[in-house]
Order: sequence, then C-alpha cells, then structure tokens
Amino acid sequence: MNEMKAIPGDDDLATTAPRAHGAGKIRKIAINTGGGDAPGLNAVIRAIVLSALHRGWSVVGVENGYGGLLPDDPGRVIPLGSDEVRGITHRGGTILGTTNSFDPFAWPVRLPDGSIEERDRSGEIIEGLRRHGIDALIAIGGDGSLDLAHRLSKQGLPVVGVPKTIDNDLCGTSLTFGFLTAVATATDAIGKLHSTAESHRRVMVVEVMGRHAGWIALYSGLAGSADVILIPEIPFDIERVCDKIRDREAAGRDFSIVCVAEGATPAGGEMVMKTVHGGDDDQERLGGLGEVVAREIARRTGKETRSLTLGHLQRGGTPNSYDRVISLRFGAAAVRCVARGRFGTMVALDPPHVRAIPLAEALANLKVVPVDGDIVMTAQALGVSLGD
Ligand code: F6P
Repeated sequence: MNEMKAIPGDDDLATTAPRAHGAGKIRKIAINTGGGDAPGLNAVIRAIVLSALHRGWSVVGVENGYGGLLPDDPGRVIPLGSDEVRGITHRGGTILGTTNSFDPFAWPVRLPDGSIEERDRSGEIIEGLRRHGIDALIAIGGDGSLDLAHRLSKQGLPVVGVPKTIDNDLCGTSLTFGFLTAVATATDAIGKLHSTAESHRRVMVVEVMGRHAGWIALYSGLAGSADVILIPEIPFDIERVCDKIRDREAAGRDFSIVCVAEGATPAGGEMVMKTVHGGDDDQERLGGLGEVVAREIARRTGKETRSLTLGHLQRGGTPNSYDRVISLRFGAAAVRCVARGRFGTMVALDPPHVRAIPLAEALANLKVVPVDGDIVMTAQALGVSLGD
C-alpha cells in the first residue's frame, strides 16, 4: 500500500461534509469533464494532476465524459502525468473532451432496426473504473454532470465534484469557474456594441447564455452599461422595455443596448427554443430570444434594431486570471478531499475558504439571481430597466 504523504493544507480544508472511510488507500485517481465546456477546465485538470503526483498517486483522464469507460466508445482512459498538463492553465476547452449528450443512466443504444433504446449503463461505468484500478473519480461538471456523479456515488463510486459552468447556477458555491471569463467576454461585446449603436442611432439587442439563471446577463449588462437587462428570474413585459427606449429617445439618447439572457421569458410566455444539429438526430436548445425581442422593439418603437447572439463565444478562449486561480484552488482542494476520504462531496468557494459540501446540498436547487437582492437593487437604482 502506498504511504500517504503529509501535505501542507491537508487539515485546513474547511468542510461541512462528513469524513468517509477509505482515506489513505488511494493509488490511482481518474478525472472526467462533463457537460458544456467552460474556461478553466484545463487549469483544474492541471492542479489535480500535480497535487496527486505530489502525493505519489497516479492519475488518468477519462475522455468524453463517462464515455471513455465504455468498451464501445471511441473515448479512452489516458495516463495524465506532468508532461500532459504542462502549459495548459491558460488554455480554453478541455484536453479530455466533453459531452452533454450522454447520460450513463439512459445511454442511447442503436438497435439493429435503426431505432434508439435508452439503457442504464451505470454499472458498466463503475466496472470500467474497477477494471482500470481507479480508486476515486474527480468529476468536473455543472448541474447535469454532477447529478450523474451524485447518482454514481450513491451506487458506491468514490467521487468528488468540482463546480463548472459559465451559468454560475450551482448552489453552495459563491462562484463556479468559467463564469467570470464568460462575463468578461460578454462585457467586452456590449462595450463594442455601444459605438455602433450610437453611430447608427439603433437599438442593439445582445443575447447571452443563462438557461435558468440571469447571472451572465446581469453582470455583463451592468458592467457594460446596458439600458435594459432581461433575466429568467424576472418575467418581462415588452411594452416596459419599449418604454425605456422611448424615454431615452425623449431625453436625447437615441440609441439603446438591450442585454437578454437566453432563458428569459415574457410574463405568461414561453422560453424561445431552436433546433441544433446532432449528427443522427436534431436536438432542442435555448436560443433566439434576442431576435424575437429585437423584432418586437422595432415594430413597437419604429427604431432600427439589430440583434446578435454571443453563444459559444462565451464558453471559449483563455480563462481570465480570476478563473485560473479558482480553478487551480478547486483542483487542489478536490485532491485534498480524496486524500481525506470526503467522497460524495463538491468543492465550493466560500471566500476566503474552499469548502467541501455534500453533492446533495449542491444539487438541491439551482442558484438563481435573488430578485430582492443587492445586484437587482443596484440595477434598479441605476435606472436600468429589467422589463418589469
Ligand atoms: O450550461 C451552459 C450553457 O452554455 C447554457 O447556457 C446553454 O443553453 C447550453 O450550455 C448550450 O449547450 P450546447 O450548445 O453545448 O449544447
């Protein structure tokens, strides 16, 4: 059995999660990245690998979410040493690949007649980890991927989660990594839209990501001085949006910037969906609200209006310095959790600490923008219309 090295910081992982048995028996851990990518994934991987090597453990990466563990998936289980993680802290994406299309509990299997059947392959995933001699898994993901990790953990898989999503909608952590880089990208775009909107005296509608939570829209809208910000938490009335544009016009401000989260809805209305193409089959995703809002504004105000969707630009590119640091902290803390046998947990930022909280707690609810909170009050105090 390997000797567990004493590592500075082993005792200072603030945690609300119970200590489990099994610490000290670790020889090999695996990492996977699931769901949509986010800036900082590679920094987390690097911190995990270097922290684990420091303890004398070996590390493997599971490619394509959980797919690499299945014999029939093109993904693999690959060794990760210091060479593999050299120079990746600043790199966007994930060196392991990711997917948000496959669920181990409902894995799509094509039958001979061409139809698709969903099968529970979770047992094969756990068996795959055993076959590779893996003692614990660090799963980096958002609500969907961490829910899978939680379900696998209830089946006996020793797992620690790391909170990833540009949407910042995971509970129990003040931030998820990737969020602040996405906000910086969106803020930069809104800044650029100001000059073209002003030159043409137009309304520019920019659609940002955010399915159920309006964090990106609110942060980037405020930072970029948008005049209207629409978020899923506050159903909007398009007439109120147009009132704001008319008021600005009356005050001599003949251009406006409207920032909409893709998941925002008109009061009593529905989310706007679009079809995306998935090879064999098409899928439904959020998208298109910006264009719908732009069309209505033009029709009701007579203003020339244009829309653009930032889409996956917000997920791409190099993580900013803050995301790099929280990613590195999360990765190192996840390894400390494994060393201490704190399985079934997720590392979480609770400044100035990184804590370990039960996965169940992190997944109990989505962290949405509090409508009576300080950030909404700030927007209101600045005269930003929230469409209500
Ligand atoms: O979870 C992040 C997110 O960017 C959502 O805001 C968005 O709706 C979704 O992922 C899009 O995912 P994809 O196009 O990769 O399926």
